[in-house]
Amino acid sequence: MKGDAEEGAPGSKGHYKIRQFKADDAEDLAEVFHSAVHGIASRYYSPEQINAWCPGAPPAETIGQKLSDGRAVWVAIGEDDTPVAFIDLESDGHIDMLFCHPRAAGQGVAAALYVRLETVALRQGLKLLYVEASEAARGFFERQGFAVDRRRVFERRGVKIHNYRMVKILD
Ligand SMILES: CC(C)(COP(=O)(O)OP(=O)(O)OC[C@H]1O[C@@H](n2cnc3c(N)ncnc32)[C@H](O)[C@@H]1OP(=O)(O)O)[C@@H](O)C(=O)NCCC(=O)NCCS
Repeated sequence: MKGDAEEGAPGSKGHYKIRQFKADDAEDLAEVFHSAVHGIASRYYSPEQINAWCPGAPPAETIGQKLSDGRAVWVAIGEDDTPVAFIDLESDGHIDMLFCHPRAAGQGVAAALYVRLETVALRQGLKLLYVEASEAARGFFERQGFAVDRRRVFERRGVKIHNYRMVKILD
């Protein structure tokens, strides 16, 4: 296990650890993204919507560049250091991405990632966190204390998709 990794938050099963993103995670995270959309979000959206959202795993360079633009990114890793989930935090409190591979889902991994993010957000003095949560993630964010601001409908590759703008005020 890498020295900079720490145990997941209480409540997770403890098989996964959390560390910061490294540039060579990009290919694994592209696969996590693709598997999460096709293996989990597919229960909440039609096949047309899923394929419009994620026609295939994005190129590693695309996701690597995005996650290396200065935002904070945490990765949950399995025992072989393979990433199974990730979350990001932009400097204004925006959470752009939260994805968990189906093989690691339902074990509190995303909750552990979120706890880490919120701890850092509070330390940075952020007053608010916000996210455009998918139908698959709405319940997760509600359990983390977020409230729905509004339902959004938008088009991706010519297909209508909805999500929810959700906000959490930090005390
Ligand atoms: C949203 C998402 C990241 C959540 O990941 P996750 O790691 O499964 O989340 P958690 O395990 O922390 O919580 C999810 C469920 O596991 C349960 N859980 C939490 N700790 C657990 C544990 N130790 N053992 C078993 N289950 C547990 C939670 O109660 C929750 O169950 P519920 O939804 O029935 O209430 C994941 O579902 C995902 O990738 N979805 C598809 C992609 C997507 O839509 N991403 C969001 C874009 S905004």
